[in-house]
Amino acid sequence: MSLVSAKEMLETARKEGYAVGQFNINNLEWTKAILTVAQEKKSPVILGVSEGAGKYMTGYKTVVAMVKSMMESLNITVPVALHLDHGSFEGAKACIDAGFSSVMFDGSHYPFDENVDKTKEIVKIATQQGISVEAEVGSIGGEEDGVTGTGEVADPEECRKIASLGITMLAAGIGNIHGSYPDDWKGLDMGVLKEIGETTNNIPLVLHGGTGIPDDMVAEAISYGVSKINVNTEKQLVFAAAVRKYIEDGKDKVGKGFDPRKLLAPGVEAIQNVVREKMDLFGSTNKA
Ligand code: 13P
Repeated sequence: MSLVSAKEMLETARKEGYAVGQFNINNLEWTKAILTVAQEKKSPVILGVSEGAGKYMTGYKTVVAMVKSMMESLNITVPVALHLDHGSFEGAKACIDAGFSSVMFDGSHYPFDENVDKTKEIVKIATQQGISVEAEVGSIGGEEDGVTGTGEVADPEECRKIASLGITMLAAGIGNIHGSYPDDWKGLDMGVLKEIGETTNNIPLVLHGGTGIPDDMVAEAISYGVSKINVNTEKQLVFAAAVRKYIEDGKDKVGKGFDPRKLLAPGVEAIQNVVREKMDLFGSTNKA
């Protein structure tokens, strides 16, 4: 199966009350780990690529070629969307040109009217080519220079306006944060999320900052219309811990244990376990 837009998989998820995971990729190992688990779990999946990760992998065209070839050689038959995560206006256009099947244009840092205008333009270009578009209102907090910002909670009226522009899915800041949550985190603002869910015409909602959100909050968020949940940091943490353990146990010094295919294997396995767990938690297992 070739890459698909995220539209159908997310609209089905919204209707049936579950969420599809967006799992960010950084390289071949991560891509292979996530695709094989999606196939094993019979789950639709969204591969997220940040602009930084795209650059790291030497460009969006390399990413498209790698993902498509890998899907063919691994015989992946579940629906897979290749999605730009937090794209700039130029980045979104570049990914559309390179063959991504889905893009996020994150205009949340612009004044609202500018966010609307730029989102509209991306929607126009993407829709002609059957590519799904994610927009953002409010902002997702996160750590910068050791300080964790809480982000800006989205205004439901602004969400309603952006949702009417023909976008496929909407990310709204509701107290969620990229990276690990601080001990004094107040949790997701369920009141605002519920209101956004009720005023945005059943559009699939996106929950960023999926790392470390308690299971019951995830379930509640899904009940208000969250149909896509992004997970990145949790995979990075388990990958690093597993590779660290391998080296600290001295396994790279035994036989050919220094072979990168052996050295990275525990990290890959750790990522796969996280993806399996999330697919079960989000309810996307057996939905492909
Ligand atoms: P985490 O890194 O907190 O899991 O968030 C991922 C994300 O939202 C990517 O857009």
